[in-house]
Amino acid sequence: MSDTNEFVLVVSRRRRHYNERKRSNRGTTQVPENCEVDYEHLLRTVGSTLVEVGDTPFARLVLSQLTESLNILNSNGVPEVVCYGLGRFSQYRSPRCQLALLLCLKERYGARVYAYDPAFCPEEVRALGALGIEIIETNEEGKRVVRAETTTLVYMPHCSRQLTNNFLYANWGNRLSNCVLLANSFSGIIDDHLHGDVSDTTGYILRIRPYVTETRLENSFSYGEVFNDLSIHIFPERDLLRVPPDFWDSREEPRYSTDEVEFIRATTQR
Ligand SMILES: C[S@@+](CC[C@H](N)C(=O)[O-])C[C@H]1O[C@@H](n2cnc3c(N)ncnc32)[C@H](O)[C@@H]1O
Repeated sequence: MSDTNEFVLVVSRRRRHYNERKRSNRGTTQVPENCEVDYEHLLRTVGSTLVEVGDTPFARLVLSQLTESLNILNSNGVPEVVCYGLGRFSQYRSPRCQLALLLCLKERYGARVYAYDPAFCPEEVRALGALGIEIIETNEEGKRVVRAETTTLVYMPHCSRQLTNNFLYANWGNRLSNCVLLANSFSGIIDDHLHGDVSDTTGYILRIRPYVTETRLENSFSYGEVFNDLSIHIFPERDLLRVPPDFWDSREEPRYSTDEVEFIRATTQR
């Protein structure tokens, strides 16, 4: 992944990260025609990335902020983690480091971890299995309904707004208080919205905005593009109790007008 800029635009720091991410992720979203991955080498690389990421201040920050978030939710753990859109970790550094953080979370909570990305190649699927991560077999388009009685951590680093919007739609209601979303900053997405950048992909994100508690994760990781712009989002019950009486009633399934590689629909999958 190259971060080389051919010319310099004067843009905000957050916006610059967004643009860099879009550019650096282009390659990660394509299903490879010919996926030649050395499986043993892949496992070794993931192992060394785990060592590299596991003991960083950033990983420690994530774990401590998660502890605080779980305290606010009166939750005593995370038995289940759902990961969407990890990306081609055999090919690119960002998804590989994000996988390493996911493994830290799995270890910390003793959680069952489920993952899905339509771009995974067979060797990546095999490696995830060996690492104890269960593959979700169908394209849920982010619409997994979480369990009511426990906390689910949803891990979606640098995923499309459609996936986040769909997830909110699927769990629209008090069930959101059982979710912790580690994903692109909602305030960043809303900022883009105010700048006219997004249109039909953010309805549920905008509506839940007054009731979300967002904790920005200050990015101290050595490679700036891996964990930038991420936040932990929770929806504490005490805040959900403040919603107007008919708040949850209007719940139309989102429809997106364009196909993008960053959001692959179940029907358009190759
Ligand atoms: C912008 S990339 C992010 C990849 C990686 N997390 C990173 O930061 O480099 C978005 C990812 O979402 C995946 N994706 C697209 N549609 C998806 C879907 N319906 N469910 C889960 N993941 C999806 C893409 O294949 C791609 O890997």
